[in-house]
Amino acid sequence: FRRSKRIVIVTGKQAMPVRCFRLTIRLGAGISTNAGIPDFRSENGIYSRLDEFKLDTPEDIFHIDFFKCNPQPFYTFSKNLISDTSWKPTLCHEFVKLLEAKKKLLRNYTQNIDGLEKRAGVTRVLQVHGSFSTARCTACKYKATFEVIKPFLETGKVMYCPKCFERKEGIVKPDIVFFGEKYPPTYDKLIAKDKAQADLIVVMGSSLKIFPIAGILDQMSEVPAILINKETLDAKLKFDHVMKGDSDAIVSEICRRLGWDLISPLLMPA
Ligand code: OAD
Repeated sequence: FRRSKRIVIVTGKQAMPVRCFRLTIRLGAGISTNAGIPDFRSENGIYSRLDEFKLDTPEDIFHIDFFKCNPQPFYTFSKNLISDTSWKPTLCHEFVKLLEAKKKLLRNYTQNIDGLEKRAGVTRVLQVHGSFSTARCTACKYKATFEVIKPFLETGKVMYCPKCFERKEGIVKPDIVFFGEKYPPTYDKLIAKDKAQADLIVVMGSSLKIFPIAGILDQMSEVPAILINKETLDAKLKFDHVMKGDSDAIVSEICRRLGWDLISPLLMPA
């Protein structure tokens, strides 16, 4: 691998690392498209479906300043996201779980908010863009559980803060990281720790437009990196190797060559 000073020997049948192989996996929205969840920037992605909101830019729907002035588009959008509980983890999520079971997963950094990594049983996961599991008032920081905010998200009705609602200042927002907000403080700490231990970075299904994932190669510049993505990206030049195609198909082939059983979640009972 040209980027790295480390040596990794890859043979035809199996990867033979110098020491126990530890991967950091970076997941983007593309790995959930096979579960029926659209990504953001593809032709039919979420950003192509927001015409009704008449936004200046589609990203506004996830911008904290916009949300504080006009939370309705986000709540209306969330109605679709929350009401569909039929999503199942994809083969990619199962692949990450398999890596963890085989003690080859250093960390799974995901910017997805669909929670499918956890549903697949992956525990070494950092949800870099947060999750829907808790929510907070944008003004007084009153904290609500998912159960409390769920009826609002399901119906698309904006939840004003029960503590400061009289001033109509406080709007309750799920703890997902919006544009203009900081990502979890643990992120930089974990990156600093992991970069000394990681043998390989695998990025799957991301357009690499959004930080912090877009900055991974600079932050872990010594670590060899592979990109698995359906489309060709400008950022591909920074990677040591690019596998172009459907992420589920590619991880299936990797597992076939390694002799690993990758069970399709679609074959599992509901
Ligand atoms: P994007 O929607 O920007 O990019 C998804 C990428 O995955 C695209 O390059 C697709 O070609 C690719 N892709 C789609 N389906 C695939 C498949 N089956 N196999 C392989 N590749 C596939 O999503 P992200 O890069 O993850 O941020 O960026 C998402 C972030 O941008 C979100 O977290 C959100 C958004 O703005 C915030 O809200 C702050």
